[in-house]
Amino acid sequence: MRSETLVPFPARDSGAREPRDTRNRPMRDLRISVMDRCNFRCPYCMPRETYHDGYRFLKSAERLSFDEIVRLARLFVRLGVRKLRITGGEPLLRANLADLIGDLTSIPGVEDVALTTNGVLLAKYASELKAAGLHRVTVSLDSVDPEVFRLMSGGFGGVAEVLEGIEHAQRAGLAPIKVNAVVQKGVNDDSAIALVERFRGTPVIVRFIEYMDVGTRNRWDRSRVVPSRELHAAIHARWPLRPVAAGYRGEVAERYAFVDGQGEIGFISSVTQPFCGACSRARLSSEGVLYTCLFATHGLDLKTQLRAGADEATLRELIRGAWLGRSDRYSELRAALHASGVERKIEMYYIGG
Ligand SMILES: C[S@@+](CC[C@H](N)C(=O)[O-])C[C@H]1O[C@@H](n2cnc3c(N)ncnc32)[C@H](O)[C@@H]1O
Ligand code: SF4
Repeated sequence: MRSETLVPFPARDSGAREPRDTRNRPMRDLRISVMDRCNFRCPYCMPRETYHDGYRFLKSAERLSFDEIVRLARLFVRLGVRKLRITGGEPLLRANLADLIGDLTSIPGVEDVALTTNGVLLAKYASELKAAGLHRVTVSLDSVDPEVFRLMSGGFGGVAEVLEGIEHAQRAGLAPIKVNAVVQKGVNDDSAIALVERFRGTPVIVRFIEYMDVGTRNRWDRSRVVPSRELHAAIHARWPLRPVAAGYRGEVAERYAFVDGQGEIGFISSVTQPFCGACSRARLSSEGVLYTCLFATHGLDLKTQLRAGADEATLRELIRGAWLGRSDRYSELRAALHASGVERKIEMYYIGG
């Protein structure tokens, strides 16, 4: 597992066009949440007790419009962003999403546009999204065992629908396809091997995510975290693995290939092996608030500025200022922050995964 010291980003003048934060991290990725609603109620993200029928989600006028998202995305790209990821909530619940994808992929300087989805609506939209210019897709699938799946999704959707979505995405040419599985001890850890087996020998890359303390409503309990090194050992004992070098600086997943050439898997270990030092991600909520950490407690409200008529230069300087002042490294400080009582963190369905 990851043991090397991460190579620091080369030093840069903070007054440069592309800002570096207080820890010398550039801004390279922007995750855009286009929808706070979801058609699942995964207990680790949107537990049903809280997100019930009477819960007040954003009204559509409160969400950024596609024009507003594109306008802001252009500014982020001018400040160094190269990759865009569309997420939520469930992004495929947003009507006409392909139109937004088409606009984002045509922004000069954007090298990669990806989507994270629970996959239930992917069969319906995969070819339209590909035609609009989407490059690749990450599908969340916590288990291929139907009962375990429904425990993890809060009783919504089904394995067959998600697998069908993945097949449509493959046929449409969205590649590479990654499957993300959050692992919770005593819930789906026993079905991890079956998930690997289902995709071994295919181009689909399964990545296991340590269950994280995002937000404050998922009743996170550290004893439910399965350290990636334990999962790695179990998979390696069945199908020997060898490490694969990171594809780029700041890649969050540790990659491994099956020694017998049957594909690749990955581990995202924010709890046991924090990777804050290489984090170059900014996040824009569906309500137009900029956050510089998945575990943030505060953000910068860009929508109000945008709707009050702020010009491009003003907005760009606001974003630049937020990035220059960034010092977040929540995962590295997790234990100390928990001990001292954590403030109310932003929920993941709202900020985007
Ligand atoms: C918030 S979801 C949004 C996109 C889409 N609804 C989906 O599920 O793919 C993005 C990712 O965050 C992950 N996630 C949500 N809550 C998590 C938690 N507490 N710990 C680790 N990953 C989590 C999900 O499994 C998913 O892969
Ligand atoms: S993880 Fe994704 S699918 Fe599950 S509740 Fe959260 S936003 Fe919805």
